[in-house]
Amino acid sequence: MPPRSRLPAGHEHLDQILFAQGFGARRECEGLILHGLVKVNGEVVDDPDAVFPEDRLSLEVEGMPWVTHVKALIVLNKPAGYECSLKPGAWPGVHNLLPLPLRRRGLQPVGRLDQDTTGLLLMTDDGPLLHKLTAPKHHVPKVYEVGCKHPISEKDCANLLRGVILDDDPTVPVAAHAAERVLPEGAAPGAETTHLRLTLLQGKYHQVKRMVAAVGNRVETLHRSQIGQLVLTEDLAPGQWRWLEDTKQVLP
Ligand code: URA
Repeated sequence: MPPRSRLPAGHEHLDQILFAQGFGARRECEGLILHGLVKVNGEVVDDPDAVFPEDRLSLEVEGMPWVTHVKALIVLNKPAGYECSLKPGAWPGVHNLLPLPLRRRGLQPVGRLDQDTTGLLLMTDDGPLLHKLTAPKHHVPKVYEVGCKHPISEKDCANLLRGVILDDDPTVPVAAHAAERVLPEGAAPGAETTHLRLTLLQGKYHQVKRMVAAVGNRVETLHRSQIGQLVLTEDLAPGQWRWLEDTKQVLP
């Protein structure tokens, strides 16, 4: 077996691959392999020193299928009742929705959703990517489906587009990128609706709630349905996650 320094680029020893994926301490990973609990491409491999490509390797660890990702970027359909904070208080953290290997890897949410907000949340352990996705110059449009207490008028939408004043910075009006009334199916064009679709480029604290309050209304439900080109589809149920392979979808 070649020494570690001579491994081909992008290759690693199996115990190290498991360790980096979050399957436990080095010794635990070695134990899993020695006990025949790890399959690679469908075959049991019981040699911790066996060398494999470290990325997109098809594993099964104690019966759990796992495709390795050297850097993790995932999409989570956040349910209500979970906090995005790394040190959650009154509510459980979104990390609790992830399998143990991802919890051990310390994925961070890309921006935050409030405890009562549902929908699309990205999480990653890739520091430079996190920075890119959250840096103001890289801000991509984020679409929110807002259930308001009172009907939303065309004038409210125009005001949201023009910009409203938020109390933390009264000098700069905060404008929506897009604001539209969403009518129930089959409703006449002029019908009343409490469903607002708001697209924002920034991510200020409680921004949607505060913008809606600034036009004299109140948010009753809030759901993020899209980030950049990435749309939350129905096949990802609330509380479920999946890998996001194509970062271009969420970068400008
Ligand atoms: N704006 C809010 O007010 N809350 C969220 O969770 C996201 C955007």
